[in-house]
Amino acid sequence: METRDDQAWVALMPLAELPTDGTGRAMESGGRQLAVFHHEGAVRVLDGVCPHQGALLGDGVISRGEVTCPFHGWHFDLETGKSGDGLPECVEVFESRVSAEGWVECALPSIGA
Ligand code: FES
Repeated sequence: METRDDQAWVALMPLAELPTDGTGRAMESGGRQLAVFHHEGAVRVLDGVCPHQGALLGDGVISRGEVTCPFHGWHFDLETGKSGDGLPECVEVFESRVSAEGWVECALPSIGA
């Protein structure tokens, strides 16, 4: 998988920290709040701040390909970041992968890009 010139792959955590399908974690990297999920055998990395009132989406629950915000229940698609409630708000989804060493990595915009 190639990244744009203004992106860099960043190692976030060992996949072993998300051992069970359907688990997630809120974390910070490169000055960004991220939501990292293990979903259906793959990893997904989204902007971690809910656009409604700022809850950490990494603390949300995954069901049917969406994360449910822990505060007021808005839903966001793990593939597209679009609202599952038909709202215009969405969250950014970053390219992600698991390295040969078993680390969850994602492509974040480079500092200064
Ligand atoms: S803060 Fe996420 S739905 Fe309200």
